[in-house]
Amino acid sequence: MDEQLAVYLNDLYEHGRAHDAGKADRLDRLRNVEPDTARLLGVLVRATGAKRILEIGTSNGFSTLWLADAARSVEGRVVSVEVDPARSAEAFTHLGETGLDDFVELRTADAAETLEGSGDESWDLIFLDAERPAYEGYWPDLIRVLRVGGLLVVDNVVSHADELREFRERVEADPRASEALVPTGAGALLIVRGTSVDTAAEARIQR
Ligand SMILES: C[S@@+](CC[C@H](N)C(=O)[O-])C[C@H]1O[C@@H](n2cnc3c(N)ncnc32)[C@H](O)[C@@H]1O
Repeated sequence: MDEQLAVYLNDLYEHGRAHDAGKADRLDRLRNVEPDTARLLGVLVRATGAKRILEIGTSNGFSTLWLADAARSVEGRVVSVEVDPARSAEAFTHLGETGLDDFVELRTADAAETLEGSGDESWDLIFLDAERPAYEGYWPDLIRVLRVGGLLVVDNVVSHADELREFRERVEADPRASEALVPTGAGALLIVRGTSVDTAAEARIQR
């Protein structure tokens, strides 16, 4: 990452922390991902060569910038969805200021509708960082729209373990998914949609 972008991201993260410190209501906070997790996302995009990247929960675009920088290096592209138009607008500004706007499509849209409207296996990597109680309901679409061998990254599995217990049980019970917890930042759950042997299991459960 070039020095200018690194400084911009650092400043944006500090801005987010200062903003959030003054907000009593959780929903008014920007809730940017921890920098270590953002860095992990960048590594995962580069390591997997993910070209079709979906982010669910843009906020003001902090994680989006990290994903976009990595997408640029693998000739990929990010679609990032956010329900709050004011936040999408902020993210739009940050993408423009960093010159990363060519690598991202921002959509002011609902996560469930975006997932429902996505074709089978249409994403190589999905970063899920929105409202946790909804995740379990997203699961059938998440696993459907992720390509075989694709990666789903879910944030906050350590910081909000209780809220995500049922979601994790659902994932663990699904033979199409393999998962590992990375205790970085707020805790990132990495879920890969199975390949080869696992695909046979998938075929069996569809019969
Ligand atoms: C934790 S913040 C995302 C932080 C962001 N990924 C980052 O690291 O900068 C969650 C965001 O998801 C958005 N959100 C909540 N429910 C959503 C939904 N159903 N569809 C799309 N976005 C949603 C919220 O408005 C909020 O901005």
